[in-house]
Amino acid sequence: MISPHGGKLVQRVDFSDRKREEAGELRKKEISLDRYRDLANIAHGLFSPLEGYLTEMDFEAVLKEGRLDNDVPWTVPIVMDANKEEIEGLRDGDEIALTYQGKPVGILEINDIYNYDRVDYAKSVFRTDSMEHPGVQNVFSMEDYLIGGKITLLEDPPTMFPNYRLWPEETRVLFRENGWKKVVGFQTRNTPHIGHEYVQKAALTLVDGLLINPLIGKKKKGDFRDDVIIKSYEALFENYYPKNTATMSIIETEMRYAGPREAIFHAIMRKNLGCTHFIVGRDHAGVGSFYGPFDAHKIFLEYPDLVIEPIFFRSFYYCKKCRSVVNDKICPHQDSEYQINFSGTAIRKMLLEGKRPSEDMMRPEVADTIISFENPLVD
Ligand code: ADX
Repeated sequence: MISPHGGKLVQRVDFSDRKREEAGELRKKEISLDRYRDLANIAHGLFSPLEGYLTEMDFEAVLKEGRLDNDVPWTVPIVMDANKEEIEGLRDGDEIALTYQGKPVGILEINDIYNYDRVDYAKSVFRTDSMEHPGVQNVFSMEDYLIGGKITLLEDPPTMFPNYRLWPEETRVLFRENGWKKVVGFQTRNTPHIGHEYVQKAALTLVDGLLINPLIGKKKKGDFRDDVIIKSYEALFENYYPKNTATMSIIETEMRYAGPREAIFHAIMRKNLGCTHFIVGRDHAGVGSFYGPFDAHKIFLEYPDLVIEPIFFRSFYYCKKCRSVVNDKICPHQDSEYQINFSGTAIRKMLLEGKRPSEDMMRPEVADTIISFENPLVD
């Protein structure tokens, strides 16, 4: 089994009454559901080797080098922001309780409190400081200070999909039980079209198992809602996936839309889940035209020490001449009248009008599932 990133699977969970009482005595800071989800992701080892929120040294190293201060690859800052009032009077070494809807859900041991430069953050992580970029918008809406330090989780966050929430310890047992030595992870924030299915199945032919991980959490307006994504994958699984080689679990963290850097982050999480391979296709975790379609392939050259192996795919499209899903490696008819691209925008438009896209674009069971929702998109 592949080792967790950085060597060991982090476990920082303490659900005891004693710990909860301890937290009740501490100064409190309220956090959002997305922050709470990342608290749990740290505590359950999905973000190994992080044991807490980035300290200033690690934060600076992540921005500059795409690595932690100890040189372990890490590309997306996991931070706890706070305003002036919240940090007033706090000192390094203090503990605070992180609360969700008023209830203590975690303890943060403060290592340091620091300022940061939003433009530097945005340019380093997103390669732009344009306010058109949803990830940049998020950074600019953060509070002025960051608190670094180790955390303890006191209670798991609520979830809409308890059956699909599998922590790294659990996926690792699952892979072992299934006898899967080589497992490929697939990241998605979308309902599946035929292009997604081809990417997954092409990769699966090379390995023992496929783990599909829809990302559940904050997304931008116009993306599909979490429940629509899950239901549409259920329809796909039921009709088109073999049970002994493919499975699904969720990852509850927000989309950052950081393209190449997020591809590395996505790969690290799958490594912690026990995947040996990770699919990176066209414009992975991209948004608008902020990244080149294969920038997320190129960045892997900077991380020869990642261990999890990326499987790269060129853009799949449907070719009317070949009469199958192909890409430019296997089809000579690209840029011709035969080529039909899997355009998310065009597919979404049809679905919103209640129409099924052609079966070359989307499975009818998937289309019907999406159409059955009154409003399938994030607004
Ligand atoms: S993402 O933001 O999570 O990357 P999406 O769910 O659409 O968006 O994509 C999931 C994965 O499938 C990514 O690795 C992406 O590059 C890949 N992918 C999506 N469509 C295609 C396609 N037509 N050809 C090749 N890869 C694709």
